[in-house]
Amino acid sequence: MKAVSFLFQYIVHPKEVGAILPSSTYLGNKMIEGINFHTAKYIVEYGPGTGVFTEKLILNRDPQTKLIILENNKQFYMLLKEKYKHETNMIIINGSAENIVKYLKELDILYVDYVVSGLPFASLPVQASNNILINTQKILGKDGVFITFQYTKLKKSFIEQFFPKIKVKREIRNMPPAYIFQCTK
Ligand SMILES: C[S@@+](CC[C@H](N)C(=O)[O-])C[C@H]1O[C@@H](n2cnc3c(N)ncnc32)[C@H](O)[C@@H]1O
Repeated sequence: MKAVSFLFQYIVHPKEVGAILPSSTYLGNKMIEGINFHTAKYIVEYGPGTGVFTEKLILNRDPQTKLIILENNKQFYMLLKEKYKHETNMIIINGSAENIVKYLKELDILYVDYVVSGLPFASLPVQASNNILINTQKILGKDGVFITFQYTKLKKSFIEQFFPKIKVKREIRNMPPAYIFQCTK
């Protein structure tokens, strides 16, 4: 899917897509740099869009590490299904991150090691963001890490209500420049 189609999805679903362009590969690298790929058994990704972060997770993961990918936009989901049809140990779900607890239960997974999020918390409804963050707390093991990016730090204190420890990094080679929040309980 080209950037034009990403833009089209933004025009049709502005609040859910939350950006007019996919993230840069630079931001993708910074999003995953805190992940210990040797020890991670399960990695969840929310809102992969066209798969910029997914690509990095696939390239760096141990083949035994299971990736669980949740995308609620049907067009992006179909694109990802086609793009990664040959990948093993990867589950792509067309559904909302709000329902992650239910999906993991269906997969018999109790806890995951990392959640990598591309969700636009700045434009999602507050109730949906609340549900997603509460459920993310539930599925992360005690040393689990929630990694998200935002274009401003406005949502930092909101996220801190769920994850009190947040390390912030910045990536300026992204359009627009972005902050990476590495969040723990
Ligand atoms: C800002 S885009 C990020 C796309 C990609 N991660 C990137 O950085 O290029 C946000 C993505 O989150 C998806 N999304 C929004 N709300 C969602 C939800 N509740 N559950 C799963 N995906 C969601 C959108 O469809 C979109 O693909």
